[in-house]
Amino acid sequence: MAANPSEKKETQFYYPSEAFVQNAAISGMNAYHALCRAAAEDYEGFWAELAQENVLWHKPFTRVLNETNPPFYKWFEDGELNVSWNCLDKNLVNGNAEKDAIIFEADDGTVTKVTYRELHRRVCKLANGLKSLGVRKGDRVVIYMAMSIEAVVAMQACARIGAIHSVVFGGFSAPSLGERIENAGAVAVITADMQIRGGRRLPLKAIVDDALAMSESHTVKNVIVYQRTDEEIPFDKGRDHWMHELMQSQSEICQPEWVNAEHPLFILYTSGSTGNPKGAQHSSGGYLLWAIMTMRWTFDIKPTDIFWCTADIGWITGHTYNAYGPLAVGATIVLFEGVPTYPHAGRFWEMIEKHKVSIFYTAPTAVRSLIKASSENRQFAPEQYDLSSLRLLGSVGEPINPEAWLWFYKHIGKERCPIVDTFWQTETGGHVIAPMPGATPQVPGSCTLPLPGLSVSVVDETGQELPWGQGGILVINRPWPSMIRTVWGNDERYKTHYWPEELGGKLYQAGDGAIRDPETGYFTITGRIDDVLNVSGHALGTMEVESVLAAHPMVAEAAVVGKPDDLTGESICAFVILKDELPQGDQAKSIASDLRKWVSKEISPIARPKEIRFGENLPKTRSGKIMRRLLRVIARGEEITQDISTLENPAILDQLRNSL
Ligand code: WT7
Repeated sequence: MAANPSEKKETQFYYPSEAFVQNAAISGMNAYHALCRAAAEDYEGFWAELAQENVLWHKPFTRVLNETNPPFYKWFEDGELNVSWNCLDKNLVNGNAEKDAIIFEADDGTVTKVTYRELHRRVCKLANGLKSLGVRKGDRVVIYMAMSIEAVVAMQACARIGAIHSVVFGGFSAPSLGERIENAGAVAVITADMQIRGGRRLPLKAIVDDALAMSESHTVKNVIVYQRTDEEIPFDKGRDHWMHELMQSQSEICQPEWVNAEHPLFILYTSGSTGNPKGAQHSSGGYLLWAIMTMRWTFDIKPTDIFWCTADIGWITGHTYNAYGPLAVGATIVLFEGVPTYPHAGRFWEMIEKHKVSIFYTAPTAVRSLIKASSENRQFAPEQYDLSSLRLLGSVGEPINPEAWLWFYKHIGKERCPIVDTFWQTETGGHVIAPMPGATPQVPGSCTLPLPGLSVSVVDETGQELPWGQGGILVINRPWPSMIRTVWGNDERYKTHYWPEELGGKLYQAGDGAIRDPETGYFTITGRIDDVLNVSGHALGTMEVESVLAAHPMVAEAAVVGKPDDLTGESICAFVILKDELPQGDQAKSIASDLRKWVSKEISPIARPKEIRFGENLPKTRSGKIMRRLLRVIARGEEITQDISTLENPAILDQLRNSL
């Protein structure tokens, strides 16, 4: 549709206050443009300077970027460092030793604080403990824990000895956990007896036991268990160790293992458009550099800040902006065990008041659910709390709709705090497109402009750059330090998935669609262009859910599509064909409920379909391909206007449409 210029609404910008600009690390758009120019003029020089100034190297690098074997790019490849050294030891000698590193608030409100000195001590002890069990540099360690100081200790301890961690979100089921343990070839698992969320105790160790029992590879020799509760749990004396017992006799000194900049720091599994999850492999040097830079640039971090990122350590956001970035810049973080609505929907605001949080980084889903909760019960409205400590807000995981943005801006930031809407992915390691809060004028619903050093474009199906105003495929034009290095154990999948031939093989394809504003060039993310759904900011592969549904004894076939959802951004709608005849009424309801439980158990509650529709068949082309675009239309309750001439069985559409 051609836009009529006279009808185009003036873009409404939101500017940082004069005071914010003056105190910001990057002040004003001239400073932003100067950094972008520096990167454009001498790309390697730009990154080399940042890496020399912001990362502590045990052995300085002499080579910056190695592009000889695309897309297997290497950064700072002859440099040596240790990430845990950069996050901890550095803070023992620069005046931060007695500063709080972590303020932990438990589900029941109990607060525990650890200083940098204490965190360092615990990390060294656990690192020595791991070594005593034979865990070595390059070994994989799966961490299956809830939000806790110990989870950060576990990640840092792995980094200290050069072991590669793979954190699996505590909401994943035994089969999902087992699949990841197996794919990573883990030698050890670090877990907890239980996790506590929203007043409920949920097993972790028991799920690890199940996952290991299912696994056929038997690589795991040791399971280390953090004792969170007094619950009795099964214990295999030959394999299981209490974390506190393992640490007890260990030395408080652990010399870090110096690793090459390209040494994998971690693997983090992310959903792909095909069945099994991909292990995104990240580096040590480049990843750390961007974690640090984005703390300084996007979050404008100051020594006095109290930084609260609500993301679980099981996701990339919890890695970069809880376990690594903030510690590497000597910040104090808040770590929260519980959920935003327990014991009441004012919990987030209460915690901001209590801990004097100054930077608050959360997901649009959380914002939307709290808008709803506060309109239903004024007692939990943000107005009931003192939020004056806040100076900066952030959003991550999915597009933030302008209504939610404005509410966040007015009711939480009191029109005083800039909002950084940060677009990025597991694979990018850190922010890609985001405002610099002391420079970039913000526009609700737009993540604004790429950070300096990141060259981002919108292209067509052949890789040609599109003019502003035309929607297309979001790509990153050049390798950057914090990028994914490969898919663990599957170089081919990395290459074909992220560097598609159709785009020329030299562009990183994010998997999202985007459009740039015709006047400002600001980016708006228009959603995934592959079969990945985004539910509450969590990426989920449609195929993953489909194959689990299809594995249910009653199910013959299933197709899954996304549907816009006011609260979770997108929700899952499943179309299911049973082996038996079409179920009706209560029977259909009960089967649907069983299928939901099944998906929860097999993958995670996040993957549970909100809507399940039964039919006698799925709409297919004559060649047997499921026509998902039609299913999307049906799920949305819209009229079908598309061409259905290639459809094998048009009558099925009515049946599926009326199946609710
Ligand atoms: C996908 C990545 C980045 C950490 C959390 C999710 C979507 C993420 C935004 C944003 C619009 C966003 C994209 C992306 N996404 N942030 N600010 N605006 N969309 O990590 O699980 O790897 O998912 O989340 O679709 O590709 P992830």
